[in-house]
Amino acid sequence: MTTQQPPAWDPRQYLRHAGHRGRPFTDLLARVPDLPRTPARIADLGCGPGNMTALLADRWPTAHITGYDNSPAMLEKARAHAGDRLDFAYADAAHWTPPQTYDLILSNATLQWVPGHTDAFPRWIGALAPGGTFAFQVPGNFDAPSHTLMRELAGSARWKDRLGGVLRHRDAVATPAAYLDRLAALGCTVDAWETTYLHVLQGPDPVLDWVMGTGLRPVLSALDDDPAARKDFLTEYGAQLRAAYPATAHGTLLPFRRIFVVAVAP
Ligand SMILES: C[S@@+](CC[C@H](N)C(=O)[O-])C[C@H]1O[C@@H](n2cnc3c(N)ncnc32)[C@H](O)[C@@H]1O
Repeated sequence: MTTQQPPAWDPRQYLRHAGHRGRPFTDLLARVPDLPRTPARIADLGCGPGNMTALLADRWPTAHITGYDNSPAMLEKARAHAGDRLDFAYADAAHWTPPQTYDLILSNATLQWVPGHTDAFPRWIGALAPGGTFAFQVPGNFDAPSHTLMRELAGSARWKDRLGGVLRHRDAVATPAAYLDRLAALGCTVDAWETTYLHVLQGPDPVLDWVMGTGLRPVLSALDDDPAARKDFLTEYGAQLRAAYPATAHGTLLPFRRIFVVAVAP
């Protein structure tokens, strides 16, 4: 059985749905209160291609912001947004110990890739200035057909030897209540909620195109050296997605549940 490795990311594929993917980020940002210090110090953990990190610089025009990621491809893309107050650096969130005091530690659509991430919460909350904020958003859709079909196919007789261990499972994230309990126990005032977006996607196989930028990365990485096998997997999985998410006259509907948490330190 294959062990779980960090997948290779493709910023170009990820950014194909940037409009839809940006909405949870701005919804999260809308709930982040004023920061305790000016100029503020901000970390964006799992910054990806940096286009969302740049929005933090717009919201806090004097802040110094560092985007961290463990994907060289994402960091290379992100560096196009770098400037006097905005920089990017390599970090693995699983082991990241904040190098200084922050007013805001934010993480959008990343912690689902970090097993055991709640164990890091004391470390991250401990690095906040008094009244500082830890805010994150994770997908809460690991029971959705896009994931269950992917896992079933990867675990089927044909694929399980190559793909058996590469995918995340439904426990990749906790419930909103569990996150709230964990952070309240650390003394934070916590706002946790969930939203199901109904994305209306256009074009052929749009759900496959969406997951090729994110959830399917571990499969694509595992089959990277075998284009024929990769094509076979995509053909079979794509047909299943078309049945689960049928095209309609107005587009293909992709319901997408997301979990949001904003925790303000004492
Ligand atoms: C779905 S993208 C989100 C990117 C960005 N935050 C956004 O909102 O567009 C997930 C990002 O998390 C990064 N990532 C995954 N595991 C990570 C880890 N252990 N440490 C740091 N970054 C990680 C990936 O490289 C990728 O850039």
